[in-house]
Amino acid sequence: MAFPANRPRRTRQADWVRRLTRETRPTADDLIWSIIVHDGEQPRIPVQAMPGVDRLNIEEAVKTAKTALDLGIPAIAMFPNIDPSKKDETGTEALNPNGLVPEAIRAMKAAAPEVGIICDVALDPFTSHGHDGLIDNDGYVLNDETTELLVKQALVQAQAGADVVAPSDMMDGRIGAIRSGLEHAGYTNTLILSYAAKYVSAFYGPYREAVGSATALKGDKKTYQMDFGNSEEAIRETALDIEEGADMVMVKPGLPYLDIVQRISNELKVPTFVFHVSGEYAAIQASAERGWIDEELAIVEITSAFKRAGASGIVTYNADKLAKLLR
Ligand code: PBG
Repeated sequence: MAFPANRPRRTRQADWVRRLTRETRPTADDLIWSIIVHDGEQPRIPVQAMPGVDRLNIEEAVKTAKTALDLGIPAIAMFPNIDPSKKDETGTEALNPNGLVPEAIRAMKAAAPEVGIICDVALDPFTSHGHDGLIDNDGYVLNDETTELLVKQALVQAQAGADVVAPSDMMDGRIGAIRSGLEHAGYTNTLILSYAAKYVSAFYGPYREAVGSATALKGDKKTYQMDFGNSEEAIRETALDIEEGADMVMVKPGLPYLDIVQRISNELKVPTFVFHVSGEYAAIQASAERGWIDEELAIVEITSAFKRAGASGIVTYNADKLAKLLR
């Protein structure tokens, strides 16, 4: 029915009716809190390119886990910044059962067992060259050799008590290999969240400063992360990962890839997460600092957009702020 029988503005005239007719409403239940941990003594070290985000020592990470519990945030995704002296060509430190990541997992699980702990499976925070895997003499990132190490890294994380292992490296076949490694070692309930559609992106810049892989990184990641012109490829990649045993999948970055979030959740019907990455965070912070946009309104709007597109959950450095704003 046409105007004036139909006046769509009627349902927007007051807060009470807007609330009643709102289709999507993110809550704290949708949030995964992304944090950076470091292996030094200092409790918190600010990340220059991410105002408001600090690298945390283990004690501060434990406090964060308790805060997550208090705020009703279901899970934490942890990323390590290790001392450069521990980095080498093959990322050996990633397999150390007493390294920063396993120690942080154990400490957080002891303090707040109800909070899910998600660990990144990838070698970039541990390699001297900043790539996610092993490189050959030409600098090419080797697939199968890397995958073998990723399986070991995931097992170290599972042994330390990680609830979810989240491969973010984009090697072929790593989900199947990790799933079978976990099964054989008896970790049948460890979840795999696959970064199934992870794109080459300018928006990872601040993160690479945060974990200290930026200065090291030689070249780019175009031979393994996806080309941002592609959408069909995201569907193929994600379908493969589900077949290989992923329980949940991730699209990354977030805001520029809402179409991918929507396609994957609609077409593949799998819990689909989205990563609101460091560069997206930094862009909002920088303009908010200049008084150009309202940070709180912006982050709630973005979070609603992710839900509207079909995301089951959102990985964000703003989880604590959002949990309070969404109450
Ligand atoms: C790589 C990895 C990246 C991020 C987390 N793990 C991307 C990259 O460096 O290529 C980015 C997270 C962010 O930007 O917030 N394993």
